[in-house]
Amino acid sequence: MSDNFLEFRNVSKSYGGVHALEDVSFSVPAGHVRALLGENGAGKSTLIRVLAGTIGADRGTIALDGVERAFATPLEALEAGVVTIYQEFNLVPQLTVAENIFLGWLPTTAGWIDRGSIRARASEILKRIGATFSPDARVGDLNVAGQQMVEIAKALSRDVKVLLMDEPTAALNDAEIEALFRIIRQLRADGVSILYVSHRMAEIFAIADSVTVLKDGRHVGTEPISEVTTESLVRMMIGRTLGEFYPPKATDFGAPVLEIGGLSVGKALQVEKLVLRKGEVLGIAGLEGQGQRELVQAISGARSFEADTFLIEGAPVRIRSIRDAIAAGIGYIPDDRKRDGLALIRTSAENLAIGSLARRLRFGAVVSGSAERRFVDDLVAALRVKLSGPDQRAGDLSGGNQQKLVFGKVLGAKPKILVMAEPTRGVDVGAKREIYEIIRELTRSGVGVVLLSGELPEILGMSDRVLVMANGRIVAEMTDPEMSEEAIMTAATAEAPEAGVMDDAA
Ligand SMILES: Nc1ncnc2c1ncn2[C@@H]1O[C@H](COP(=O)(O)OP(=O)(O)OP(=O)(O)O)[C@@H](O)[C@H]1O
Ligand SMILES: [Mg+2]
Repeated sequence: MSDNFLEFRNVSKSYGGVHALEDVSFSVPAGHVRALLGENGAGKSTLIRVLAGTIGADRGTIALDGVERAFATPLEALEAGVVTIYQEFNLVPQLTVAENIFLGWLPTTAGWIDRGSIRARASEILKRIGATFSPDARVGDLNVAGQQMVEIAKALSRDVKVLLMDEPTAALNDAEIEALFRIIRQLRADGVSILYVSHRMAEIFAIADSVTVLKDGRHVGTEPISEVTTESLVRMMIGRTLGEFYPPKATDFGAPVLEIGGLSVGKALQVEKLVLRKGEVLGIAGLEGQGQRELVQAISGARSFEADTFLIEGAPVRIRSIRDAIAAGIGYIPDDRKRDGLALIRTSAENLAIGSLARRLRFGAVVSGSAERRFVDDLVAALRVKLSGPDQRAGDLSGGNQQKLVFGKVLGAKPKILVMAEPTRGVDVGAKREIYEIIRELTRSGVGVVLLSGELPEILGMSDRVLVMANGRIVAEMTDPEMSEEAIMTAATAEAPEAGVMDDAA
């Protein structure tokens, strides 16, 4: 095997006027983990898709072990040992876990699909990655984390030489990330070349041997991990440093904007009392699957629930759907943008306008076409959404830019209460900072925010008050200064949690 097993040579790819990749050249040794970094829209996913055979490059070539290769289809790439875990899932929800793992190359015995053998092999791989669900579970019944595990299992069922991972941990909890890192280290020891895309700095320092940074489709630099710091990487990525990451917190709050009593979602959630004040950020923390998702989904009308009281600004409201919630002034940013957040085949401007349309209907105000356009332009600028134009299809945007669009769409409705699940997932560091600023700006104007996040630093940096959940209940409430990672984890694990990956299946 040559030193540089995987080599990109002058790869370029354009979409209309957008240079997604421009003359990108770099190489990755065998048995090496290379982190691929860059802002939203920098070209990371495009590069991975070119290597994986899902799109063709306009120019340039890729060599594996010194031999130039061009994969016309994903299957050709797979056969050459190039395995990809995508940013967006590629699973068939109606099929079982085992069927999904072996999709495209189901083992057969004399022409018949050998179900017993795929089950057994699937079980073995699931056990290896520490997944707790059965190979017979329907993929559509798993939550995001579970589905990601299936993607990983799918990848591992192949003979891997090059493993491409596009934000593989976006939906995983800490234990699952540790399990994934063990697998990555094992594959590295087996000589696999690994290209790892992530926006999470801590992860990059934990797993990568070296980093490659892209900016606006160009190769900015490749450095050993020992030669870089978070600061220097941020500068390479966005061309400036960021300074203090979290904006200052609020010091006083208004009247309650939301008061809920006796809230339940079957057995998954039982909340006696929840109060959110104007201008407050209420963090929701806990181990994965302890009722947090049910809570934010109930508040935002995405899941049916029962409640004794549900008051907005002191007045009782009835929420039975997302539409009811929007009409009542509740904005919702879901964690699964592909499923709930965007109309992917509509243009970006249309997606943003849907939000403000709801507001116009609510107030019966008339907004002219040009005002609408300006509103869209302002949001796009504030969030630095990278668009070729307002008519670009939402589904063609880079992953992080889709998330920003969800944000813009919800803000367009000018909610009184903003409920967010993992709002910065997949968003680059610069834009993350931007989103935190916007959240603080909203609270200054009196909006109450409910923030569900699996990233404890984000919870601590943004929340004025934190509720810790376990077994579907609120088990602790804390504010500064007693709020800390340790205090939250202690509260979260005080009772033995009953839940697992399957618990919050949609
Ligand atoms: N099918 C497409 N049609 C038009 N433009 C596209 C298409 N796919 C990607 N682009 C554009 O190419 C650029 C690079 O996108 P890419 O998905 O590679 O970014 P990325 O680095 O993966 O970003 P993120 O961190 O947000 O996932 C973006 O400007 C994006 O809008
Ligand atoms: Mg991407």
